Amino acid sequence: MTTFVPANARRTVSPHLPFGEMRGGKFYKQDILSIKQFDHDDIEFVFGVAEEMRAMVERVGTFDLLKGKLIANLFYEPSTRTSSSFAAAIQRLGGSVIQINDVKYSSVSKGESLPDTVRTLEAYVDAIVLRHPETGSAAIAAAAAHKPVINAGDGIGEHPTQALLDLFTILEELGRLDGLTVTMLGDLKYGRTVHSLSRLLALFNAKLRYVSPDILRMPEEVVGELKTQGVSQTEHRELGGLLAETDVLYVTRVQKERFADLAEYESVKGAYVITPDTMTAAKDHMVLMHPLPRVGEISTEVDADPRAAYFRQVQYGMYVRMALLALVLGKA
Ligand code: NCD
Repeated sequence: MTTFVPANARRTVSPHLPFGEMRGGKFYKQDILSIKQFDHDDIEFVFGVAEEMRAMVERVGTFDLLKGKLIANLFYEPSTRTSSSFAAAIQRLGGSVIQINDVKYSSVSKGESLPDTVRTLEAYVDAIVLRHPETGSAAIAAAAAHKPVINAGDGIGEHPTQALLDLFTILEELGRLDGLTVTMLGDLKYGRTVHSLSRLLALFNAKLRYVSPDILRMPEEVVGELKTQGVSQTEHRELGGLLAETDVLYVTRVQKERFADLAEYESVKGAYVITPDTMTAAKDHMVLMHPLPRVGEISTEVDADPRAAYFRQVQYGMYVRMALLALVLGKA
């Protein structure tokens, strides 16, 4: 589990930019490591800024809010959306990005430690966006760094910025957040997006329905945590009757790369496939989501269904990441 330590509190050398601190809000120069850092008011605030970002992008495309700011995208695992949406987000705001996507071409392949890599990059940039295969790696990087670290996925741990964009998608698509029935389907054990999203939805009185093969159930750590908060949670092996009451169906990929035994992966990989036929049992006013990439869990024939929001979800992600960067870098 990650511990939230404000980046400023760790500074030993007195920093600069006092004006920024007065101007910035709670997130100014903070690490974003876990969704647990966000309360109801924070989310409202982030989403308000994300709405403004959306309006600005639609009106002018790119603007200078973060002109002169630089981030590093340090990705030790594959990524299409997260990496490029952070890159698009900073550039839409007039800043720029150092992109390290393939660490085998960096000094990591020479055996450099994560703290050393982070200490190096922060000499050049204002914030580091990190994806790494180990749970807790973002917290390790944040402890080493003096500049903010944003967790873009730490192994099977968390993916907080994805959870925020997922929730923003729900708000934009359904127009409300409170008391929704959210059914999460697929790999709930290794899928970090659902670990963050379920915690976030707990703040909005969601009823959580977990559908997975037995070996891919939602971790006890998450279920237990939400149980103490009184969240309605039920576990299922089949989607079946749940669709009639589902407001959000959140489908995930079976995370092949996390399996020690590939035969085990093979035994569950095709466990669920959403087809147009599946969708006939769903409400008219509901939303079908997926963090992507999909590898067969949703048939492409479903894409034309107006309830299929996964490509819109991608776009909402850029607005949310623009908002987060603006808040962390202090000019929102
Ligand atoms: C997810 C991830 O990396 O956790 N992708 C993403 O960031 N949109 C989901 C996945 O890889 O299955």
